[in-house]
Amino acid sequence: WPATAERIDGVVHLGGMDVRDLVAEHGSPLYLLDQADLAARARTFREAFAGADVYYAGKAFLSVGFARWVASEGLGLDVCSGGELGIALRADFPTDRIAMHGNNKSDAELRRAVAERVGCVVLDSYVEIVRLADIAAAAGIRQKVMIRTTVGVEAHTHEFIATAHEDQKFGFSLSSGGAAEAVRRVLALPSLELVGLHSHIGSQIFDTAGFEVAAKRVVQLLADIRAEHDVELTELDLGGGLGVAYTVDDDPAQLHRFAADLRTIVAYECGRHGLRLPRLVVEPGRALVGPAGITIYEVGTVKPVQLDAGAVRHFVSVDGGMSDNIRTALYDAAYTCVLASRGSDAEPMLARVVGKHCESGDIVVKDAWLPSDLEPGDLLAIAGTGAYCRSMASNYNQVPRPPVVSVGGGQSKVLLRRETEDDLLRLDAG
Ligand code: LLP
Repeated sequence: WPATAERIDGVVHLGGMDVRDLVAEHGSPLYLLDQADLAARARTFREAFAGADVYYAGKAFLSVGFARWVASEGLGLDVCSGGELGIALRADFPTDRIAMHGNNKSDAELRRAVAERVGCVVLDSYVEIVRLADIAAAAGIRQKVMIRTTVGVEAHTHEFIATAHEDQKFGFSLSSGGAAEAVRRVLALPSLELVGLHSHIGSQIFDTAGFEVAAKRVVQLLADIRAEHDVELTELDLGGGLGVAYTVDDDPAQLHRFAADLRTIVAYECGRHGLRLPRLVVEPGRALVGPAGITIYEVGTVKPVQLDAGAVRHFVSVDGGMSDNIRTALYDAAYTCVLASRGSDAEPMLARVVGKHCESGDIVVKDAWLPSDLEPGDLLAIAGTGAYCRSMASNYNQVPRPPVVSVGGGQSKVLLRRETEDDLLRLDAG
């Protein structure tokens, strides 16, 4: 739960505000972000990674107001599409602190990144090396770049969000020599300035062992580059991926511990090769914004269903679902959920919190213990929904996406307003 979350007589409060009042003002479902929690997290990242660059991964959640906040916290921004770049530009984000990612950036995206003087473009394919070099040359700009490497680590996380094993689409393979070849090609192009290497092994990772292997292999390439080209690259970007706790069973690494581990690993490996210590870059998304967010839903129906074994499962339908949180359906993600609008002494019942969409896989919380007197009109709060919920939300079944409201000091501020039926029809050519 976010830093300021508390329950007063069973009622959830966030940022000093009663969620019933927040729902009365902003409606349900509702994404809430705890300003104090975010500020504390940004501070912890800055402290833990002092001397390193922290680039917030905007894919976790981004809006103009949020990008402004990221800038004001002194963080950089990782964008992975023209749309995310556009939001950053609208927020007047300092472009030299933006890194542009993506395995298939379009010409238009690359042209815009170069023209806006984006600090770094992370290269992901041979085709892109030539594409970007031509665009930069035509613009008369020497573009700073990094090369994304695939380090061949099996990150212990869901298959869809593991990104460093060989058989996936991102980066240049280290083991097959692809990354070394990419370095050769980039160094031969005067319009590109190679500043460093990048590795992102996956997301929602608890064990730093994967980062250890990644750092070891990437630093080896730094040493190989020096041997072959007599060039010492100055930046090492180890990506994002630090896991957060979604349930009491989750035991993520503490941020300071994680940062200390990364530094030690990089320093040790560089020391072994006699390399100057590169500037370390990390790109946290989830760990910065995930735990700061909660979602509030209103219960619409409670349906007991008799299971074969004689047990009863209570399907609790809420007014949102897979359109505002696809993570349970997509990754089998687990969430923590409580009754948020009142206290209850009723016995707990085994519940499944489901959405209002026309799919049986439309599940928000697979197994939740909720009071057995739960009834329509009650509010539920789901923890840990700050990252990859609004940013992955859809309009499936023509359901408008909920607003994102940040709360702090007894006040609320809309970052993204609720969609309306007019919004849904705005693109409809009729
Ligand atoms: N850097 C790069 C290059 C990335 O691809 C990602 C995430 C990050 C940083 C940030 O990773 P984080 O610190 O948030 O783990 N939709 C999935 C997560 C996909 C992550 C994709 N890349 C989910 O909901 O779990």
